[in-house]
Formats: sequence, structure tokens, C-alpha cells
Amino acid sequence: MAPTPHSVIALYPGSFDPITNGHLDLIERGAKLCDRLIVAILRNEEKEPLFTVEERIEMLREVVRPYPTVEVDSFNGLLVQFAGQKGATVILRGIRAISDYEYELQMALMNRRLCPAIETVFLMAKEEYSFISSRLVKQVIGLGGNIAGLVPPSVEVRLRNRVLNGR
Ligand code: PNS
Repeated sequence: MAPTPHSVIALYPGSFDPITNGHLDLIERGAKLCDRLIVAILRNEEKEPLFTVEERIEMLREVVRPYPTVEVDSFNGLLVQFAGQKGATVILRGIRAISDYEYELQMALMNRRLCPAIETVFLMAKEEYSFISSRLVKQVIGLGGNIAGLVPPSVEVRLRNRVLNGR
């Protein structure tokens, strides 16, 4: 029997405050597994972000420009509801270390409970990026450390301006 053509839409949700090279690697690899990958920034965050959602959208759009099947969007409320609106059947998440596992498992099981038709797919972070987090990158640049190679160059410029020059 001939396979039925259907396109797989995946969502890659997160805070991306800001995007790191670890996120970008996941986007690059995740995009190969689906027909469309939507990077989805959570809007209703409790934590004080360094960059506004609009700034994060701009930064993400800049760095995903080389990937024609990747787009950037933002959402409020439940992720599975947003997935439904977008026709996405896959949620993509990255795992860096065993410490990520518990949090990710909880979210994946909750999302499955809310919407069994959506599968969460995990990709293991590349070794060279497995220690990078947006939180640590912000801390290191704030304390005068070198973050070259941890975030895309355009993001490094924005971080420098925001954290060191208050712009
Ligand atoms: O990069 P982060 O901050 O770890 O991403 C967390 C995110 C955005 C994936 C998660 O907070 C989320 O999906 N929030 C939406 C609210 C929701 O759907 N909650 C119920 C399932 S956990």
C-alpha cells in the first residue's frame, strides 16, 4: 500500500531568553525530522525576562533565516491548545543532562494527559552545548565573562548592549 502523504508539523516551545547555540542546534536537527518546525515562545511567563517577547522573536527570526521550514511564533496559555491551532502533532524538546529529565518528563506526561494525540520528541543536546543555558549565559556576561561561541554572534551583541550598556 502506498504511504499516505501527510506533513508533520512540530512545535519547539520555550522561553528563549535569549536563544543559545544549544537551542539553535536543536532547531537545525529538529527541522530535519519534520516538514515544518514552529519555534514557539511562551508569552505569559512568571519570571522577569531580560528580553521582551518581541525582541526574542526578532532575534530568533534572524538566526533561523537559513532554515526555510522553520518559523517563529509566540503563544499564551496551554501549549497543547496552541499546537492544535497550528495543526502540530509533535512537541520537540531538548535534554542536556539527567537533571533536565524530571522536569521534561513531568511536562511531557501532562501534555500527553491533556492531548494524547500529540507526541513529545526529545533530542539529546550535542555534547559541546550540553552545559549551556540562557540563565548561565546571562550570568556570565553580567560578570564580565566571555560568552563567544555560546550564543549566535547577533545575540551576543544584543546581550552585551542590554546587560553591559543597559540598551
Ligand atoms: O524553555 P522553558 O522555559 O523550559 O520552556 C517551558 C515551556 C514554555 C515549554 C513550558 O513552560 C510550557 O509549555 N508552558 C505552557 C503552559 C502549559 O501548557 N502548561 C501545561 C503543560 S506543562
